[in-house]
Amino acid sequence: MTDVSDLASAVEQALREAGACADLPELDECRVRWLGKKGSLTEQLKSLGSLPPAERAAAGARINAAKVRVQEALEARRAELERLEDERQLAAGCIDVTLPGRGEGRGSLHPVTRARLRIEAIFRSAGFDVASGPEIEDDFHNFEALNIPANHPARAMHDTFYFPDGRLLRTHTSPVQIRSLLARGAPLAVIAPGRVYRNDADMTHSPMFHQIEGLVVGEGISFANLKAILHGFVEAFFERDLAMRLRPSYFPFTEPSAEVDMSCVFCNAKGCRVCKHTTWLEVAGCGMVHPHVLAAAGVDPERFTGYAFGAGIDRLAMLRYGVNDMRLFFENDLRFL
Ligand code: PHE
Repeated sequence: MTDVSDLASAVEQALREAGACADLPELDECRVRWLGKKGSLTEQLKSLGSLPPAERAAAGARINAAKVRVQEALEARRAELERLEDERQLAAGCIDVTLPGRGEGRGSLHPVTRARLRIEAIFRSAGFDVASGPEIEDDFHNFEALNIPANHPARAMHDTFYFPDGRLLRTHTSPVQIRSLLARGAPLAVIAPGRVYRNDADMTHSPMFHQIEGLVVGEGISFANLKAILHGFVEAFFERDLAMRLRPSYFPFTEPSAEVDMSCVFCNAKGCRVCKHTTWLEVAGCGMVHPHVLAAAGVDPERFTGYAFGAGIDRLAMLRYGVNDMRLFFENDLRFL
């Protein structure tokens, strides 16, 4: 059994088998077959007892040397298999950074942002500054100072979102009128674009939308100035001649007040679904700043007069870019944007 040639051919066979193992589980089976508790070489060691004592030591040494050789061969094959596995995984997951790109899609501005930037540019060129205020407002700036006291019926039209502490999400950009006057005094000419919030949602209303506020306060500011600025603005924004009309209306913070209509840009004032066959589109609210508002903002209403207007930026963007559902602006579907 411990015959040298037997042992030598057993080792040879073990080495051949180890070298032929295709993966780690197979290699493990091979190890058990040769070196395990019942493995072929282990069995040989067990048979030493039956040898004459004089031969045992030499035979034992030969068998142990054989075991070491097989162990080394198994180890070598294991390292080899692990290296091959690493290479395979690297090849599967590799990125060739030298390949040309697939073409990169450059982002573009949101249509509401584009509309806002256009509006800002138009008013800046007419000498207005751009002002801003917080979206979380207090009762004073959003209502009280705008001549809308606590039980005023106009509050019911605002569908206000309130915080538990009494603060609120501003329902319009008009509070920036108060903040600008308190901060800078008269005379001044500002526009204030920004987000506003109302508890309201359908095809043409979103709970968050954008307004642009305009405010001019100075000595001798008149309704005629207001009309001229608004007409100049709509023609500049839509880049064409447009008729404009002012319809008497009511806002607590302006007196007199008006709604601003321009001739329908979709049907060129022939009558269509968008203008509901009236040939007019409503684009803003406006009026002369109420003396109560000037006084609340620390401006002398005997000396100064002013006008204010407010328009929906989203609505202007819809009209300018021909979008019929306001929700498209806020769903952030990249294909639309
Ligand atoms: N704040 C008004 C609104 O949200 C619009 C407006 C602004 C009207 C300024 C007149 C003057 O409806």
